[in-house]
Amino acid sequence: MTIRPRADEDMAAVMDLLAAENLPLDALEATEGWVAEEAGVIIGHVALEAAGDAVLVRSLVVAPASRGRGLGDRLMQAAEAAAGARPRYLKTDTVGPWMVARGYRLARPDEIPAGIQATSQFAGGACACTPVLVQGLPAAPRGPGFLARGGWLIPALPLWFLA
Ligand SMILES: CC(C)(COP(=O)(O)OP(=O)(O)OC[C@H]1O[C@@H](n2cnc3c(N)ncnc32)[C@H](O)[C@@H]1OP(=O)(O)O)[C@@H](O)C(=O)NCCC(=O)NCCS
Repeated sequence: MTIRPRADEDMAAVMDLLAAENLPLDALEATEGWVAEEAGVIIGHVALEAAGDAVLVRSLVVAPASRGRGLGDRLMQAAEAAAGARPRYLKTDTVGPWMVARGYRLARPDEIPAGIQATSQFAGGACACTPVLVQGLPAAPRGPGFLARGGWLIPALPLWFLA
């Protein structure tokens, strides 16, 4: 089994894999992709859609018969290595817990840059309720920002009971 960059001739097989999972095909040709290939057959894929200083990880799929062998992990490693220091965003209804185990966390709306929001996975018919995960940003802020949003209420509550 080999993980290698996606070539134009792989597109039809990749689209078949994605369509079988009802995953979006929009703007796939504008992405940088990697495939898992075994005995000449494409059995997995992942892609990065560049958006300004960030990237969208998308179109992750492994053929059902090949799951559980670490291909998804190896595909993600290839995409994450190419992303380098850029923050990585992922919009998913299906693999949130797996991504959290990989070090992703839920992104707050104000942490999602305009470039990422302009990608095809955010525009059009994609559901706005689908969780967005991120890796490579600082942790959610605490300190003055947290206090300004009402975090001061937590230490203040015991004082309210004493009053
Ligand atoms: C998600 C997917 C790519 C994983 O591929 P894979 O080759 O089986 O992944 P790996 O073998 O590297 O990892 C398997 C691990 O991921 C876990 N996992 C797989 N899918 C999961 C999911 N939807 N939620 C939580 N964990 C999941 C497995 O339980 C397994 O855990 P373990 O290592 O603790 O045993 C594959 O299940 C798939 O193609 N799913 C359908 C398409 C999809 O939902 N893509 C995501 C679009 S954003």
